Amino acid sequence: MTTLERTVGAEVTRIEGRDKVTGTALYAYEYPVPDALYGVAVQSTIARGRVRSVDAGAALALPGVVAVLDSGSVPRLHPTDDPELSVLQSAEVAYRGQIVAAVVADTYETARQAAAAVRVIYAEEPHDAELRDGDPHIFVPETVNAGYVGRTEQGDVDTALATAPVTIDATYTTPPEHTCAMEPHATIAVWDGDTVTLYNGDQGPWVTASTLAALFGLPEGAVRIVADHVGGGFGSKALPRPPTVLAALAARAVGRPVKVAATRQQMFTMVSYRTPTVQRVRLGAERDGRLTAVSHNALQQSSRLAPYCEQTVVATRMMYAAPHRRTIHRLAQLDVPTPSWMRAPGEAPGMFALESAMDELAYALDMDPIELRVVNEPSVDPESGNAFSSRNLVACLREGAARFGWPGRDPSPGRRREGRWLVGTGVAAGNYPAFTFPATATARAEPDGRFRVRIAAVDIGTGARTALTQVAADELGVALDRVTLEIGRSVYGSAPFAGGSMGTSSWGWAVSKACRALAKRLGEVSGQVPPGGLEAHADTTEDVRARKELARHAYGAQFAEVRVDADTGQVRVDRMLGMFAAGRIINPRTARSQLRGGMCMGLSTALCENLELDPHFGDFANHDLATYHVAAHADVRDVEAHWIEEEDDQLSPIGAKGVGELGIVGAAAAIANAVHHATGVRVRDLPITLERVR
Ligand code: MOS
Repeated sequence: MTTLERTVGAEVTRIEGRDKVTGTALYAYEYPVPDALYGVAVQSTIARGRVRSVDAGAALALPGVVAVLDSGSVPRLHPTDDPELSVLQSAEVAYRGQIVAAVVADTYETARQAAAAVRVIYAEEPHDAELRDGDPHIFVPETVNAGYVGRTEQGDVDTALATAPVTIDATYTTPPEHTCAMEPHATIAVWDGDTVTLYNGDQGPWVTASTLAALFGLPEGAVRIVADHVGGGFGSKALPRPPTVLAALAARAVGRPVKVAATRQQMFTMVSYRTPTVQRVRLGAERDGRLTAVSHNALQQSSRLAPYCEQTVVATRMMYAAPHRRTIHRLAQLDVPTPSWMRAPGEAPGMFALESAMDELAYALDMDPIELRVVNEPSVDPESGNAFSSRNLVACLREGAARFGWPGRDPSPGRRREGRWLVGTGVAAGNYPAFTFPATATARAEPDGRFRVRIAAVDIGTGARTALTQVAADELGVALDRVTLEIGRSVYGSAPFAGGSMGTSSWGWAVSKACRALAKRLGEVSGQVPPGGLEAHADTTEDVRARKELARHAYGAQFAEVRVDADTGQVRVDRMLGMFAAGRIINPRTARSQLRGGMCMGLSTALCENLELDPHFGDFANHDLATYHVAAHADVRDVEAHWIEEEDDQLSPIGAKGVGELGIVGAAAAIANAVHHATGVRVRDLPITLERVR
C-alpha cells in the first residue's frame, strides 16, 4: 500500500462538473439514437369516467404522423402494484391529466400538433377532488409509505392531555407541492427483439429495469436503463413514471425507437406530487417542559387508483420522550392524480407541524425553545425502545445556537423593528432516517494500472459519482484519477435508487467491499495484474441483514432570521443556519451543497410553493413555473450548513448517514417560528403568504 492521503473527507470537486457546464454530459433525451420517432401523450380532460372513443382522423391526416395509440391498440402489460404504470391498459379515467392516448410522429412538433388534434369522446361521471376533513370515506391505512404502520398508540393520551398543566392543540396545513426537477421526465426507448434499452431520466436504474421487466412480462435483464446524467428528481424519478412506460409501449407498437419528453406543463400531473396535509398536533406538558402526551394526526389524499399514504407522523414517533403518545394517518382517495415521493416525504410536512407546535408550547411555558427540546430528549427510541446508533440532536441545537447567535435572544414577539421591517428569529429540529439497502458492485484492475468500478448507482446532481470515487480510491489505496467509476446503468447489478437519502451509504458499502476484495487479490498476486485484468465482485445483502437492530437517524437544528414588512406582510429570509449530525461526511463540498439545497427547498416550501387544486376540474390550476412559485436566487440570501463531527460505527463501513433530505426537514418550521417571533402572528398554513401574515 502507498502512503497516499485519504480522499474521503476532502473537498473534491465534481468529477463530471466540466462535462456538465460545457454541455458534453448527455441527458436522457439527448442520446443520438438513429431512426427515432417522437411520442407525445394525450391527457384526459375529465376527472372521472371512461373513454368512449378516440377519433384519430384529424391527427392521422397530418403529414409525418405514424400512429395514434389508445387503450385498444397498445401491447398488454402485466398487472402491477403501481396502477399508475398501467398506461393505456384500460378505458377508465381516474383523474384529469391521465394518459388516454398518444401520438407517434416523425418530428416532435408534428407529434405535439397531432396530439392536440386527437378528439377523445368521454362518458363523464361526477368527480370529487376536494379534500374535506370529516368525509365518511376517510380511513386509517394499515400501513403507509416505507412500510410503517398507519397508527400507533402508547399509554392513555386523552387522560394525559386532560390533566396536563400546559397543553397545545393546533391544526397545521401544508398544500400539495410539485418536485420541479430541472430536467423534465424523458425517455428514449429502443427495442431489439425482446429486449429494450431505455435512456431514462432516472433515480434508480436497476429498480426501474426490474419493475419494467415485470410489467412487460420479460425476464430480469431484458430491460436496460441508461441514466448517465440526471437533472434532478427530488423523488419523482425514484420509481418509474407513466412517460417512461409510454415510451416503451409506443416503441413496441410502432417497431421503431421512440423519444418521449414530458413538457413542463405535463410534469404537474404525470409524475406525481406531494400530498396536501391537514395535521392536528396536541401536546401536554408539565410546567418544567417535560412532555406527558404527544398526539399527531394527519389527513392526506391519494387517487382512486392507489392508496398512497405518506408517512407524515412517523418522525413524531421518535423525536421526543413522552409516556403517552398517539400517531394516526388518515387518507381520502379522491379523483386526483396519485401523489408520491417528494424530498423527505413524511418528515418534511410532518416536522413542520410538530416543530411549530413545539414552538407554541415553548411560548405557553415561557421557556426557551431549545431548552424545551433538550429536556425532552429521549435516551432510547420512544416507540421501539431500540437504542440509537448515535443521536446528536442536542449537540446540533447547542452548537447551532452558538454559531447563529441565539443566546440572549429576547423571546417576546413583535418587538424588534428596523424601519418598516419587523425582525425575528426561529429554531426547529429535524431528523431523517439513516437507511441502508443492499447493493452489488464490481471492481476491476486493468493491466494499464487503472481501476474500473461499476455499480448501478446514479448521480442526480448530488455528487454521488464523486463521493463513490473517493471511497473506491481510498479502499484501493490509489490516487483519485486512477479510478474510473461507472454508474447509471441497470446492467451493473442490483442496487437501490437514489432516494431515502441512502445512496451514498448503500452504494458506498458495496463499492468499498468490492475494492477491498480487489485489493486483497492484488496483494495475493503481488500487484501483478494479468493481461485480462483482475476483478472482484461484492454483494452487501448479508452484511446489511446482519446489522444490529438500532434506531439509525441523522439530525439537524435549523435556525432562521426573517424580516416581515409591517405594512404588506412580505417575508424575507435574511439568514438560515443549519447544524447537522449525519455521520461521516465523505465530501464536504458536495454534502454542503446537498444540505443547503434542502434548506433552500425548505425556504421555498415555507414561502412560495402551493399547487392550487381546482375542485371543479379536479386538476391543478397552476401547472408551470410562472404560476407555481419556487424560491429563486433573489429569495435566497445567506444559507449556511455546518455539521458536527460524528463517528457512528453502527451504520456501515462508510460511516455515512446521508444528507439528501435532512436539510429540508424543519426548515419551514424554523421560518414560520421566526415569522411569529417577528410579528406575533402564528401562521399554521403553508405557504406563508402576505395575507396570512397580516
Ligand atoms: Mo427521495 S423523495 O426519497 O427520492
